[in-house]
Amino acid sequence: MKNLKISVLAAALAFGALAPATGAELPVYKDPAAAPAARAADLLGRMTTEEKLGQLQQLDGLWDTGAYREEFPKLAREGRLGSTLNVRTAPHANALQKEAVENSRLGVPVLFAFDVIHGYRTIFPVPLAESAQWDPALAERAAAAAAEEAYAVGLKWTFAPMVDIARDPRWGRIVEGSGEDAYLGSKLAAARVRGFQGADFAAPGRLMACAKHWAGYGAAEAGRDYNSTDISPSALRNVYFPPFKAAVDAGAATFMTAFNDLNGVPSTAHKANIAGVLRGEWGFKGFVVSDYTSVKELIAHGLAADDEDAAVKALSAGVDMEMVSTLYRDKGPAALAAGRLRAADLDASALRVLEMKFRAGIFEHPYIDPALEAKTLLTPEKLRLALDAALKSLVLLKNEGALLPLDPGSRKVAVIGKLADSREDMLGSWAADGKPADAVTLLEGIKAVVSPGTRVVYSSGCYTGDASEKELKAAVSAAAGADVIIVAVGESALMSGEAASRVSLALPGRQRELLERLKKTGRPVVAVLFNGRPLELGWLDANIPAILEAWQPGTRGGLAVAQALFGLANPGGKLPVTFPRSVGQVPIYYAHRATGRPTSLTEKYSSRYIDSSSTPLYPFGYGLSYSSFTFSNLLVSPASIKPDGKALVSVDVKNVSARAGDEVAQLYIRDPAGSETRPLRELKGFERVTLAPGESRTLRFELTPAELGWHYAGGFAVEPGTFKVYVGSSSAAGLEVSFEVLP
Ligand code: NOJ
Repeated sequence: MKNLKISVLAAALAFGALAPATGAELPVYKDPAAAPAARAADLLGRMTTEEKLGQLQQLDGLWDTGAYREEFPKLAREGRLGSTLNVRTAPHANALQKEAVENSRLGVPVLFAFDVIHGYRTIFPVPLAESAQWDPALAERAAAAAAEEAYAVGLKWTFAPMVDIARDPRWGRIVEGSGEDAYLGSKLAAARVRGFQGADFAAPGRLMACAKHWAGYGAAEAGRDYNSTDISPSALRNVYFPPFKAAVDAGAATFMTAFNDLNGVPSTAHKANIAGVLRGEWGFKGFVVSDYTSVKELIAHGLAADDEDAAVKALSAGVDMEMVSTLYRDKGPAALAAGRLRAADLDASALRVLEMKFRAGIFEHPYIDPALEAKTLLTPEKLRLALDAALKSLVLLKNEGALLPLDPGSRKVAVIGKLADSREDMLGSWAADGKPADAVTLLEGIKAVVSPGTRVVYSSGCYTGDASEKELKAAVSAAAGADVIIVAVGESALMSGEAASRVSLALPGRQRELLERLKKTGRPVVAVLFNGRPLELGWLDANIPAILEAWQPGTRGGLAVAQALFGLANPGGKLPVTFPRSVGQVPIYYAHRATGRPTSLTEKYSSRYIDSSSTPLYPFGYGLSYSSFTFSNLLVSPASIKPDGKALVSVDVKNVSARAGDEVAQLYIRDPAGSETRPLRELKGFERVTLAPGESRTLRFELTPAELGWHYAGGFAVEPGTFKVYVGSSSAAGLEVSFEVLP
């Protein structure tokens, strides 16, 4: 009954039945035909200071249940609850919305937000794994599916995509982004924004996106979460900013500021970035939300003297909405009265929030149909997509003697390691409302793909912490006589993500020892890695014949890994981040600059270590396949262009094996001389292709000023001179051509 009443009211509102009888009296803000900006301006003109400040307040509901807190209905009735995070599902969202829409003076709806990062209920691979797909169109489809599910439980705003470039695997949040590269990161940022928002985020099944964390959060010193950052203007412009710019260009509705101090100004009060770069230079028209209590944290940072000062500094910098701390609301009126906060700044922020609410369509459609959830979550199509996404994110790191794929008709398969039998660890650290019970484990996946006659023996061996001697011994005896031993090692889902930085990149607990003992059995060992960051895999690489990187692969992850292990699928993902030999090499990334003394194995006074190689274990862009590919005929034309011209690159890629598979052709450039130094290689194009045995395809790439240019101290430019072009299967790509940019 209650639900019926809600939808009748919603329909009445939508058709203006509750509005005054004559059209002339209809306030502009209630007129769905009026432009969002005009409606927002009209509404703002009717608001008290408290109501305006209320629109800038976002409060946290109860994450576990999706319920709202006791005080929320009253705040909503008073028009003092602009948005919530974590409140969701029709009963909670609709009941709270009713207070805002039907029982408040102006009827402004609440905007419901949630961290829908890589799926809502159907969980896709973690973002770093999606990046390993090198397939933005697939990430876009996953984001669209996530939006559909989230919308069905009353949400209209996701705190995603996270587009922070990260070059330090100690930082646990590296798992939430696209890895180390600005170009790949930009393609994924745009794809995810498009996926969440579609062409119009007001449409049913779509969400407003939020590019986060603006800016530089991924460069946390020492890889310690929330730590300060010190980033050069060149690195900001060329490395950290591009994915954010791509998100703006793709139409991202909102931005979230970061927790970090950036070069002496905390991101949540960084006027030069928010008002200057984001709104001024890039023309961003959406609104900016703080991160969780990051307005209040301006005091701990040492920027703000007290609560009021923090509110004034954040709001004046252009941070429109305050997440969880309540300083705008509590200190705003006094700051305004004293002239410390400009009324114009408050109005500008309130206007931006209101305009987005109009654009999101929630004035016309404030409620969610309670029947939608059951019809939308975990549908067969979404589960198929989750399987496909997991398959495409697998990266084959080593496959000595073509040990993989395994024979599904094997007599005995030993599956070792708690991670092979852990549902929650398939989902990742930001799994929204993903339920471990929905997830397929590796053990289940293997049982599903092997022949009926195959004996699958499981032993937990060890997890990520300590393990007893008895457990390790049991694992070794379970493996005795197996045709193959499949060992799941890596990290638990909660070992990466927010507040999960590590000083060590080693396999945790007794995993290495477990592997050593299993190797001693003499049976072939395959290591499957579940992890959210690059790990130190030097020992594995030297001792284990086959290594498959599975990340946290999501709801259908275990099945995907099993299909790949047993040859029902062919891995073709590539690393979106460099895997170091040891943590001491961090930060290590492919797009570094040259030095005056390049690394040399024979020259002591070269840029190198006395106790390690300088090279990574696995470079950016690396990944094997059961197929083999060759690249040839790398051509560029014309031989010279003007700085505003474009060069066309073509290359042939051929599957020279007897098995169909995927290759990711990667194009890198280098500008070897100019007014500033640039990286040795810069990714500027890629394409993932599926090729049948023997099939060859000519791929074409365009190099325009967008790809060739660089943000120099004096601005963005393509400088005249020689440009080198490399194409191949990783950042170590071998084929090379060059062309000239004429003055
Ligand atoms: C803090 C995180 O930094 C941010 O990414 C997230 O969106 C908010 N909490 C809300 O959960």
